[in-house]
Parts: sequence; structure tokens; C-alpha cells
Amino acid sequence: MTQHPTEPTPDRGPAPRQALATAAAPRDWWREAVIYQVYPRSFADSDGDGMGDLEGVRSRLTHLRDLGVDAVWLSPFYASPQADAGYDVADYRAVDPVFGSLLDADALIRDAHALGLRVIVDLVPNHSSDQHEWFKRALAEGPGSPLRERYHFRPGQGEDGELPPNDWESVFGGPAWTRVADGEWYLHLFAPEQPDFNWEHPAVADEFRSILRFWLDMGTDGFRIDVAHGLVKAEGLPDLGSHDQLKLLGNDVTPFFDQDGVHEIYRSWRTILDEYSGERIFVAEAWTPTVERTARYVRPDELHQAFNFQYLSTHWDAAALREVIDRTLDSMRPVGAPATWVLSNHDVTRHRTRFGNPPGLGTQIRSAGDPELGLRRARAATLLMLALPGSAYVYQGEELGLPDVVDLPDEVRQDPSYFRAAGQDGFRDGCRVPIPWTRTGPSYGFGPGGSWLPQPGDWAELSVEAQTGRPGSTLELYRSALAARRAQPALGAGESVEWLDAPEGVLAFRRTVPDGPCVVVTANTTGAAVSLPAPGEPLLTSAADGAVPAATDGRFPLAADTTVWWLA
Ligand code: GLC
Repeated sequence: MTQHPTEPTPDRGPAPRQALATAAAPRDWWREAVIYQVYPRSFADSDGDGMGDLEGVRSRLTHLRDLGVDAVWLSPFYASPQADAGYDVADYRAVDPVFGSLLDADALIRDAHALGLRVIVDLVPNHSSDQHEWFKRALAEGPGSPLRERYHFRPGQGEDGELPPNDWESVFGGPAWTRVADGEWYLHLFAPEQPDFNWEHPAVADEFRSILRFWLDMGTDGFRIDVAHGLVKAEGLPDLGSHDQLKLLGNDVTPFFDQDGVHEIYRSWRTILDEYSGERIFVAEAWTPTVERTARYVRPDELHQAFNFQYLSTHWDAAALREVIDRTLDSMRPVGAPATWVLSNHDVTRHRTRFGNPPGLGTQIRSAGDPELGLRRARAATLLMLALPGSAYVYQGEELGLPDVVDLPDEVRQDPSYFRAAGQDGFRDGCRVPIPWTRTGPSYGFGPGGSWLPQPGDWAELSVEAQTGRPGSTLELYRSALAARRAQPALGAGESVEWLDAPEGVLAFRRTVPDGPCVVVTANTTGAAVSLPAPGEPLLTSAADGAVPAATDGRFPLAADTTVWWLA
């Protein structure tokens, strides 16, 4: 941890740099942007240690350009003991040696910009690592240390303070409090190695303003804010009073999640961001009970985007999808923010596997389900998502149609929540397996060595190499979809969709822009073909054979679990 935030660190990169130049940047680029999440551990490994790194990412940037995304979001690569895969940050201004150096980060940002790709980095403000300099000193100095005020240290309850200060539980399972040797307890909403910051303390707020500037000066185009709903805790840290806390998470406002005070912080951050040129953005990871509450994070003077987790959690079902789409658009319209669609990320079972399982299992699924059905639906769901107004996020590997790896042996698992009983998460390693680039070679071209999590033996045909140029492959579907989205502004534009009549289980809607062709989207979420009026000329289908059956008498059969885009 740098003691004096404004002092340059020894391996600091070149002088403050611009974000991707404003010159070529269309205004409001982020409103319809497709942003690709790189999970650096699992993307590409340049040095053969089995762990991906920044140089690996840099070497594969052309994949992202060829895919046609606008920006990349990098999960944390900062100095960290990796107790939670880097979401436990020990030094916010340093790159962990396992991922490279600040100079590598600088080179990556520069190369991405040269390819027209913006770079968004992850900011982890709810908690630090227990190896952060502040926390180490807070522990060493003992009760009464001013450093303890930057975290939540409390005496325990009970005769000898042997009980935690309140009844909060960690998201990863078990109590949210750990007792230290001198008898005090500290709060950690996640793993014990992730102590929560006390955001009431001015030094915490100052430190994060400085960290924002550090990465903005490095030329990054924005931040994904980790646990954006968690920074502020209710005054006095009151008991939750529920014995079923995990059910409340994401479904209710709690004394530790979605407190109103967080918005003040984002207003202050927004003024910093707006001092910088190039339309840099914030995207919130805010698990809130409703899309209406998510909309509060993207009011005009706060953040730009917030992931739509209600959408992510919706099964492949026309009525449920229509409802969440409408509710989202109705919530975002009044605050003037774009909807931000997402189907997969590093914390949930990949959508191919979710959709291959029955509904109602949540976002952490332990069964492979029906992988073929899952793939068909996942492809259809992607075309549906990419035709909705607003921005969309793509998680690395979904463009290859990767399934979750549900049968990892216990001894290779690293997700800290797997080892804590009854946590909300626990099976996140399955979506973090390094991605396959080539048919052959160690770790399918992930790197010159192995991979930190074992890859399944049948991933050769899922590799980028195998799918490139193969008609009907999932990779080519994503490329075609993103190219069509660029060519047809109607696909991402606007704030509403115009619903068309459709039989049960089918979604049909029109997307328009002034003075441009309109696109009609038809999505069949049922397991049987449905006959529909042909709305125009087919533009793209999610069907693996790439074919849309010809219309007879103006009607065509929309295949089971298939989405088709039409130029109308
Ligand atoms: C966020 C991250 C997740 C992490 C947690 C604690 O939810 O996405 O991976 O475990 O925060 O930082």
C-alpha cells in the first residue's frame, strides 16, 4: 500500500494519459456499447504459470476487435493474496506480480485504445484484503488504534465478548464477524480475508477519490464498481433479525445492502470522472431487490450503468422475459439511463448451463442439465439480449458457447465460498475455467503451461480456432450479431421496444430508429416450432444451421428455442 497516495509508485507507467480519444468517439458511446468481461486469471497466460495475466490479455486483444465489442472490462489484477481471486485487494495502485506490472497495464491500455477498444477496470471499495497496509496496522496497533476506525471493529456481545456484535452473516456463509486475538471483532460481509471499510471515515473516502484519479490518469475509460450496494451500513449496525438471511440478499433492503447513503458517494465520484475527457463511465454491480431500486444508482448525477441482475436471473420464458424487459425499460426511462443487459459473469453459472436446467434453481447450479438444449437457448437468448435497447455485457467464453464445468473435483476448487458452509455462492469455479483458444497444445492455447483449473477433455471443438470460420458456430453467431448491431442502429437504440402480437411462449417486437430500416425480433422460448407471419427478410438466426425456413403463404415456422432478426 502506498502511504502517500499522490506519490508516484516506483514502477508507475508514463505520465497521465487520455482515455480513448474523444476525436473518434461518438457521444454517449456507452449507451449502446457491448462490453466484454475479461477475467484475467482465465483469459490467456503468457508465462506458463497456469494463471492468466495482462500480457496474455494484450496478446489476444485482436480476438475482441474481431468479435466486434466496444470495450473490455477487466476483473481485478491488483496486488492481492488472492483469497477471493483478486477481489481482496492489498494495494489498489499496484499490479499483482502474478498478472504482471503497471507497465504491462499501461501497454495493455495503449494497445486496446489503438484497436479502438475502451478499457474499464474493476474497483473494489467495499472491502480490502486483510493484507492491506491499513488493516495490518489496525491489527498490530490493537484496540483504540485510529486505523481500526477505517474498518468496522467492535467489542463482542456476551459476558466475555465471545459473541459477534450483531447477527449479520457473510454472503459466503458463516458469521460476518471474525474475532481477533485481542478480543475485538471485525466485520466482513464476504470472506474473513476481506474486512469491510468504514465509509463514514473521511480517510476512506479520500483514499478512493485518489485511487480513481490514479487509474483515470493511467488512461482507463471507467470503472466497474464491486458490491456497489454495500459500502454504507445502517447506523449502529442493527441486527437483521432474520434467521434466513441468504433469502433476503438481493430481495430486500438490509442494514448492510442498498442503503440510501451509497448514493452520496457516487455523486461525489461522478464529479471526479466528469473532470476527465473522453466520456469515461461507471458501471455498478448492485444487487438490489428490484429494477426500480437499481435505477436509483444511475440517476443523472450518479453512475452511468448498473447491471440488470433481475434480467440475468430470469429463466428462458417469454412471459417472464417480457415482464422484466418492460419493468427495466420503465424504470430506466425516467432517470435517462440505458438498460444494461447481462446473461453471464464470473459469479454465476454460465447461461448455457442455466438454460439447460429446469427453472427455479437460482444462479448457482450444480448440474450439467441438457447441454444441447442449453446451447440452443443460450444462442437464442443472446440474440434477444443484443436486440434490446441499451448496453450489453458479454462474459469471456460465452461467445464460444462454453458450459459451466460442474464436476470439478473438490481439491482443485478455489472459490472461498465453496469451503464455507451454506453460503450464497460456492460453485463459481465452474464458470472460471480458462478458455480454449486452440484445438491442441497445453491448456488449449490458454498458455504454454497448464491451467489453474482443469479444462474438460472435450473442449477442442469449442476453441476459438475450431469455431473461427465454421458456419453456424457460436463464435460466428456472436461476430455476425455484433456486426449486424453496428450496421443496424435500430438494434441497440432507443428506450422502448414495440411489442407485436405473438402466440404464447413467443416474443415479437419491433425496433426502430428515425430514418433507418427497422428490425423485427421473434424469439420462440417453447420447445416446439410455431408458425408466424414472416415480418420481412431474415437478417440473422440463432439456429445452428443458420437457416430460416422459407415462408409459405406469408407464414414461416419459427423453430423451437430460436431467435430470428428480420429486416422489415
Ligand atoms: C463481487 C464480485 C465477486 C466477489 C465479491 C466480493 O460480487 O463480483 O466475485 O467475490 O464481490 O468482492
